[in-house]
Amino acid sequence: MDTTKTLIPPTRIAPETFLVHDHDGEGQDPVLVPLNCMVIRSAQPVVVDTGVPWSSEQVVADVFSLVDPEDVRWIYVSHDDIDHTGSVNTLMERCPNATLVVNWFMTKRMGLTLECGPERWRWLADGETLDVGDRVLHAVRPPIFDSPTTRGLFDPTTGVYWSSDCFATPMLTPTVDVGELDPTFWLDGVAMFDSYISPWLEIADHARFQRTVDRIEALDPRVIAGCHTPAITGANVARAIANCRRIPGATVPPPPDQAVLETIQRSLSIVA
Ligand SMILES: [Fe+2]
Ligand SMILES: [Fe+2]
Repeated sequence: MDTTKTLIPPTRIAPETFLVHDHDGEGQDPVLVPLNCMVIRSAQPVVVDTGVPWSSEQVVADVFSLVDPEDVRWIYVSHDDIDHTGSVNTLMERCPNATLVVNWFMTKRMGLTLECGPERWRWLADGETLDVGDRVLHAVRPPIFDSPTTRGLFDPTTGVYWSSDCFATPMLTPTVDVGELDPTFWLDGVAMFDSYISPWLEIADHARFQRTVDRIEALDPRVIAGCHTPAITGANVARAIANCRRIPGATVPPPPDQAVLETIQRSLSIVA
């Protein structure tokens, strides 16, 4: 476990719904990147995404501080990127009653890195639903995503929408709610990160993209949670959705390039 990292205990974002916090870059990079997952203590408890592998010990401990391993019934993976699958094998091993909610392409793309077999899978596509006993969750793809397998997750009973990679933002210090961020830093940061995540936005049809944002707005979410954002709550939900609409075509700083890498290498004395 990284002892230099500021550890934030899980925070309650809605009734029986908790954000499990993690982040990267503290003490190393100019900004931090949130790396969260979520737990819904529905009648059949659900873990939503599983963090990065190098934080697995922390993530698993935080999840099990909220729900007993034997009680976890569903482990929902939004897509197969490493920052969402980091503890999937550990959780499936430690949670004997859990079913892994993925989709066909995710299992193909993960291949042999996915250790549990098809007898423990459930395939759920965008637009389909998952009955978790006391509520029915909806798989809804966010407007901005970086894997063809991506589905977010909406809980109509709490109004919480898990956005996967969408609404990603940098943060300067560990943060639990976007309301703690400077609003301009936040909204421009989302434009920057979401543009990096989805460079295909520049070739997407504008009207059709806006309809994908309409779909999220129509859910009328009360809280937006995601892997790479502090909780988006209150009036900031509408601000986040409005900001999403302007991201295709937004002018953002270029991502770090070779010159930046060489600066880093010089600071490490790798390059003379
Ligand atoms: Fe991703
Ligand atoms: Fe991600």
